[in-house]
Amino acid sequence: MVPGPYRDTVASEYNLLTPGNAMKFAVIHPGADRYDFSDADTIVSFAAARGMGVRGHTLVWHNQLPHWVTNQLSSTDYSNCSGIAAATRQSLRTILHDHITTVVARYRGKLLSWDVVSEAFDDASKPMRRNTIWQCALGPTYIDSAFVWTRRADPDVKLFYHDYGAEGIGVKADSVYNLASSLRRNGVPIDGVSLQLHGALSSSSAKDFKGPTATSVGQNMDRLIGLGVEVQITEMDIKLRNPSKAMREAQGHVFADMLGVCLARARCTAFVTWGFTDLWTWDNPAYPTSAGWTEPLPFDSTYAHKPAFDSLLAKLRTSR
Ligand code: XIL
Repeated sequence: MVPGPYRDTVASEYNLLTPGNAMKFAVIHPGADRYDFSDADTIVSFAAARGMGVRGHTLVWHNQLPHWVTNQLSSTDYSNCSGIAAATRQSLRTILHDHITTVVARYRGKLLSWDVVSEAFDDASKPMRRNTIWQCALGPTYIDSAFVWTRRADPDVKLFYHDYGAEGIGVKADSVYNLASSLRRNGVPIDGVSLQLHGALSSSSAKDFKGPTATSVGQNMDRLIGLGVEVQITEMDIKLRNPSKAMREAQGHVFADMLGVCLARARCTAFVTWGFTDLWTWDNPAYPTSAGWTEPLPFDSTYAHKPAFDSLLAKLRTSR
């Protein structure tokens, strides 16, 4: 059960929701013949009752897959796929097609957008397609298929390619740009690119921000927009190490600068943080990379405004 203050804060301060887990494959489609729409339905009706938008997240991803899907292949070495039988490939293709068709149809007309494919590139110095079960069994055009199937199931929802570490100009951003460009060129129905933007700040100096500069994010957005797609920042957070008052203020400035980059572009159509209170963050000790990092969001763990909230609000007010 979601605590009252959590719901009240969402309702009073926000106009756009992304389900953090409720629409992921393992949650919404836990058995081959079993869908569980309960959490997703709750979120979608909460939003509808309050006139809020919802971003669907996410249809095709390598994480949070149920065992009944991963068990389709006998090996989890997705770098060597040559030995997979044609019937197995076809079966995984049917699974993904049916999953997308069923989930997208369920929320047809109720969502603003879908993250159709998430994180298809790896983090190598020259990012390649990530070796996932989908890339392995369906081949590289699984991305094209996913967009086409999503469009068929909901003709009006906006379809996004979604990734992290591709916010500012760089090799991974180049890969995402090239993908979006080729999808557009080939008439695949992609409407936008959603950029996660998980950052970290180790001192009160903004130059110690681990993440892209606002200028670089703006440049990357501009070239994507030049392809005819929308862009969104969809998972921003900035974790802190040994937070001080000055660091919380610096955190606020980084948040507000990135919001400013989005507000300055008509085709940047959403700015979303991944959660909002430090009480519930995804970057928790369960993730080894997060040990020693804390307080990534605009509300503290008692739901009080942090400097980040005030900076974001001030930025919204001055750009109206
Ligand atoms: C995270 C959820 O917030 C966690 O609860 C879950 O354990 C793991 O996934 N990028 C994404 C999100 O696109 O789906 C991830 O969500 C956070 C990173």
